[in-house]
Amino acid sequence: MRNKIAAGNWKMNGIEASLSEITFMATQMEGNGEVIFCVPYTLLSQAVEMTKNLGISIGAQNAHFETLGAFTGEISAPMLKDIGVTHVILGHSERRALFGETSEIVARKAIAAHDAGLIAIICVGETLEERESGQAISVVSAQINASIPKSANAQNTIIAYEPVWAIGTGKVPTNDDIAKMHESIRSIIPQGDHMRVLYGGSVKASNAREIFSIPNVDGGLVGGASLKADDFIPIINATKT
Ligand code: PGA
Repeated sequence: MRNKIAAGNWKMNGIEASLSEITFMATQMEGNGEVIFCVPYTLLSQAVEMTKNLGISIGAQNAHFETLGAFTGEISAPMLKDIGVTHVILGHSERRALFGETSEIVARKAIAAHDAGLIAIICVGETLEERESGQAISVVSAQINASIPKSANAQNTIIAYEPVWAIGTGKVPTNDDIAKMHESIRSIIPQGDHMRVLYGGSVKASNAREIFSIPNVDGGLVGGASLKADDFIPIINATKT
């Protein structure tokens, strides 16, 4: 049995006052799955303190592949571990597209996360052009193979399949396309029966339950709809089995 996950990716959103959404959500949650909030670096320490004993994990949205040194502006995996962070998103499509992250860099970051004792949430996904030219599965398979290091196992790694064209657009692949992609991903990941594979891209309260019930979908990585309790509580509750 793979426990389902509702993971929120706040991206570059949220100030101190936003954290009250998380504590409120903790009082309303009914799902028996796992809940993770990946908040900006500035809120991590407070989020960790606030969510102790609430059944919520706190994650970062990136980490450097080195542990320390002359890398101005960067944050390392051991630094995240030090303040009680448990998860880190790596290789989100925004980082791949806007900040030049390759799958090779993502794999190095994942090794650093594993070495530090963090759970890596490794993101993959095709562009619209790649989907329309029939290459979605081959592109994602190549990303998976190059982004997941040998250190990955079902305990220290979660995969998030996020079609680039579905992120923040309100567009979602058909259930059949999600099912085919997740089946393909599961067939090539290490410890495939046990590693969780999330779907991400325009998950909302209105579609979460349906998407989470597709075979091989173990929950969601949610951007916009994770910021407000009213939107995210039904998504958390859709992890209930
Ligand atoms: P979205 O973003 O839910 O706003 O589409 C998902 C993500 O980028 O992780």
